[in-house]
Amino acid sequence: MILKNFIVFEGIDGAGTSTQIKILQKRKDAERFFFTTEPTDSETGKFLRKMLKGDVELDPRTSAFLFAADRNEHLYGKGGTNCGVIEQAQKGKIVVSDRYLFSSLTYQSVTCGDELPRRLNESFPLPEILFFFDINPEISLKRVLGRGETEIYEKLDFQKATAERYRAVIDEYEKMNTGMKIVHLDASQPVEKVADLINQHILPIL
Ligand code: TYD
Repeated sequence: MILKNFIVFEGIDGAGTSTQIKILQKRKDAERFFFTTEPTDSETGKFLRKMLKGDVELDPRTSAFLFAADRNEHLYGKGGTNCGVIEQAQKGKIVVSDRYLFSSLTYQSVTCGDELPRRLNESFPLPEILFFFDINPEISLKRVLGRGETEIYEKLDFQKATAERYRAVIDEYEKMNTGMKIVHLDASQPVEKVADLINQHILPIL
């Protein structure tokens, strides 16, 4: 099922999804949007952030369950300020999420195989538009390392495996004809160029 008014940004760490959300937040009509992110700021999301920082060690399958639980809260719950996506989209807000289930199908399939993440995410709605920020991991990791503090997944070998897996996941959805619009972005381009492309694709649904 496609959730109308729902837009998702996906890409490996440092691909620039958060930068593009910040640009959208400065639009004159920003009040028409609901900006959100996964992991959420609910208690599940906060716990996941601890895992990502390396403060809590979890079995990779436990993380897969928790990312899916956080996603359920994101869509249906009221556990955080950025939760309740379905309600917002149905009210007519354009919901833009930094990451969604494609992150689980990618990252968790690298850490615990693809069967569990697939099963846990099969019933969630798909966005109207998915922007895939495609970038060479060597370039994106430089951006991430330039920020200072890093997370457990932010290592070159892992990012290379993730980049490859992302492309496979996106390809698979392209072949499925779900009705979701998939936009491939070359995320190594200048920030303004990427922002222009995003604008062009968002315009028709505003
Ligand atoms: P990220 O989106 O890079 O946010 P920040 O820049 O604020 O740290 O961090 C989220 C990390 O969580 C990223 O490495 C991807 C990972 N992640 C998963 O492994 N599975 C998921 O389902 C989601 C939503 C994120």
